[in-house]
Amino acid sequence: MLDIHCHIVPYTDDGAVDINASLEMARNAIKLGYTGIFATSHYIIHDNELVNEDFVNNIKKLNEMFELENINLKVYEGNEIFFTNDIVDLIKNKKVCTLANSRYVLVELPLFNNIIPMNVYDEFNKLQDAGFIPILAHPERYDFVTKDFNTLLKLIESGVLLQSNIGSITGKYGKDAKKNVEKMLKNNMVHFLGTDSHNNTVYDVYDKAIKKIKKLINDDELYNRIIYENPEKVLNNEKINIWYPKSSK
Ligand SMILES: [Fe+2]
Repeated sequence: MLDIHCHIVPYTDDGAVDINASLEMARNAIKLGYTGIFATSHYIIHDNELVNEDFVNNIKKLNEMFELENINLKVYEGNEIFFTNDIVDLIKNKKVCTLANSRYVLVELPLFNNIIPMNVYDEFNKLQDAGFIPILAHPERYDFVTKDFNTLLKLIESGVLLQSNIGSITGKYGKDAKKNVEKMLKNNMVHFLGTDSHNNTVYDVYDKAIKKIKKLINDDELYNRIIYENPEKVLNNEKINIWYPKSSK
C-alpha cells in the first residue's frame, strides 16, 4: 500500500521537523500497512521553491536512513505543487517532481477562494496536452467546492483525478471538508486517498477514518482500486481507468 500524499521529508516544508520526526512517521506508516510513500513536499512559487536537486538528494538520504534503521518503507519523489500558470515549464525545467517521475502531477489549489480560479481548466489542459495527468489534492477542503460541489464533476469530466485526505472524514479539516468528502465518497468521486500527514496526528485517527470510508464507498472492488491499485499505477506510470460518478446530489 502506497501513500500518495505525505510530507515526510525533513527540513523542506511544514512537514517533518527533523529526521527523528520522519523516522517516527515512517514507523507509524508501516504499522498501518504502508510499504511506500510519495514525498509530496510543498512547492510554492515565490514562497517555498525547493531546489529540486537538493530535494531529490534528501529523499535518497532518507531511504538510506530507513535501510540503516531497518524501516521497510520506500520513499518516492513527488511534490504538492501550489497552483501556478507555468506547471508544465516547472516540470520540464526540473524545478518540480512529478510523482515517482511518472505522468501524474499532484496540484494544490488555494483553499479559500469562493470560486475556482479562472485559469485552472486552461492550466490543467496544458498539462494534459504535454502528456501529464493532474491529480487535485484534497478537493474537499476548498471553499469553492463547498459553495458549488458540481465544480468537481466538471473537473472529473476534464480528466482531473481527485485525491482526498483520509483525515477529512473524521473532521480534521472542519465540518465543510467532512461533509464534502462524505458526498464525494458516496458518489464515487474519489480516485485516491492519502494521509497528507505533516506529523503523526493522522495516524492516530486512521483506523476510525478507514472504517467510515469503507462504509461510505460501500463497494470492495472500488475501495481496493482507490486504496491499493491506483497509487500502484501511479508508481508504475500506468493508465488509470476512471469510473463515473453517481449523481452529485
Ligand atoms: Fe499536503
